[in-house]
Amino acid sequence: MSHGPATPLTATAAGPLSGTAHVPGDKSISHRSLILGAMAVGETRITGLLEGQDVLDTGRAMRAFGATVEKEGDTWVVHGVGVGGLMEPEDVIDCGNSGTGVRLLMGAAATHGFAVTYTGDASLRKRPMARVTDPLAKFGAVAHGRSGGRLPMTLVGAANPVPVRYATPVPSAQVKSAVLLAGLNAPGETVVVEREATRDHSERMLAGFGAEIATRDTPEGREITLVGRPELAPQTIAVPRDPSSAAFPVCAALIVPGSDVLVPNIGLNPTRAGLFETLREMGADLAYENPREEGGEPVADLRARFSPDMKGIEVPPARAASMIDEYPILSVVAAHAEGTTVMRGVAELRVKECDRIDAMAAGLRDCGVTVRDGADWWEVDGRGPGGMPGGATVAVHLDHRIAMSFLCAGLAARAPITVDDAGPIATSFPVFRDLMDALGATFR
Ligand code: S3P
Repeated sequence: MSHGPATPLTATAAGPLSGTAHVPGDKSISHRSLILGAMAVGETRITGLLEGQDVLDTGRAMRAFGATVEKEGDTWVVHGVGVGGLMEPEDVIDCGNSGTGVRLLMGAAATHGFAVTYTGDASLRKRPMARVTDPLAKFGAVAHGRSGGRLPMTLVGAANPVPVRYATPVPSAQVKSAVLLAGLNAPGETVVVEREATRDHSERMLAGFGAEIATRDTPEGREITLVGRPELAPQTIAVPRDPSSAAFPVCAALIVPGSDVLVPNIGLNPTRAGLFETLREMGADLAYENPREEGGEPVADLRARFSPDMKGIEVPPARAASMIDEYPILSVVAAHAEGTTVMRGVAELRVKECDRIDAMAAGLRDCGVTVRDGADWWEVDGRGPGGMPGGATVAVHLDHRIAMSFLCAGLAARAPITVDDAGPIATSFPVFRDLMDALGATFR
C-alpha cells in the first residue's frame, strides 16, 4: 500500500551512540515464511516476523490467494492451502513498495491456471518485471504489462505447467526464488543456475518445509534443483533479525565519535554478511560476540565502536550480491574514511527501490562529498572522521534505505541533513526512529 504525505526528518550531530539495539526480523525470511506457510498444508507459526509494510502487504496478498494469515499474541499463524491450492484473487494485488513481494508472488501464482493483476506504488511501478516474467513464460505463464514490462501487470498462470531449466542473467535472489516457487507446482524437476550465489533463504526454507531440493556448484555456477509437487509440511519459524537493518545502527556507531553499540542476534548467513566483512577490511572496530547457530543459520551479537582510523578500499565485486542492499550505508561510512572507496559490479543498484547510485551520489555531493559514478560502478572520496560538511536536504525517492542512510550520515556531519520523506522507512524498519533515539540519535 502507498504511504501518506511526505514527512521530512532532520538529523543533527549526535553525542556518542550507546546501548543495545534490537532490530526487527529479517525482511527476506519474513516474506518467504508467509508465502511458504500459505503453500503448506496446515498451520505454520512464525515469531519475530518483520511487521514492516512490505511484509504486511505480502500477508494481505496471501489472504487474497486463499490462505488464512492471523496474528495471535506475538505469533503469526498461517493456514496454508497446499501446493497447487492457491485461489484466484478477487481484486488487484497491491504490493506497495516491495519488489520481493511482487516477484515472489508472481512466481508462486504463475503455475496456477488463473490470471492475477499486480500493482504497487510509484517506485515499484518503475521497476523491471521482465526478469521474472521471462522465466515464468517458460512454465507457460503469459504476462500483459505496461511498456518495458512494468506494473500494473496481469500474469495469466499456466494451467498445465512444464518444469523449467533457467540460468539467471542477473544476480537476483528474487528471480531465483520466483522460478523455484513456480517450480513447486510444476511436475518434474525445475533447475535454476546462478553464476553468482545470491541469498539462499528460499533454498534453506524450502528444504525446511520438506521439499526435495539440492544445490551443487558447477562450472556454470550454483545449480539448484527442485522436485515439483511436494507436499509442504507446516513449520514453526523463528525469524532471525535482519543484517540489512542492523547495518544502520552499526554504521552510525562507527562514524559518531565515542559510540559503542551492541546489536544482538543478527543473522550472519554468508550470502548476506558481505558488509560486515568489508567494514572490518576498512578498519572498523566491529566484533562478532557470542557466535552461534540458530535455526540452521549462523547468528552473532554485533558490537560496533567509533572507528576513527577507517581507510577506503576497493570492495571485491564478487562480494556484491552478499551486501547488495548495504551499498547506500557503506557509502556514508566511506565518506568518513580516509581515501577512496571503490564499488564495482553493482549495476543492480540502479534498479532497486530507486536508482541507488544516483540517489546516494546526488545526496552525498550536496553534503560536500566527491562521488564519481558510471553504469555499474561508483567511488566515494573519504573526508576522514567528522569531515562531511552536510547541510543539505536530500531526496529519498520512496526508498527506505536512502532515507536511513542519510539520517545516519546527519548524526556525524558538521551541519544537519534533512531527508525529504522518512515515510518509506516503515517498509522495512518501522521502529528505526525509536531505536535510534534510544541510542542517543538526534532526529527532529
Ligand atoms: C531480496 C533480494 C534482493 C534484495 C532485496 C531482497 C530477496 O533483490 O535487494 O532487498 O528477499 O530475495 P534482488 O533479488 O533483486 O537482488
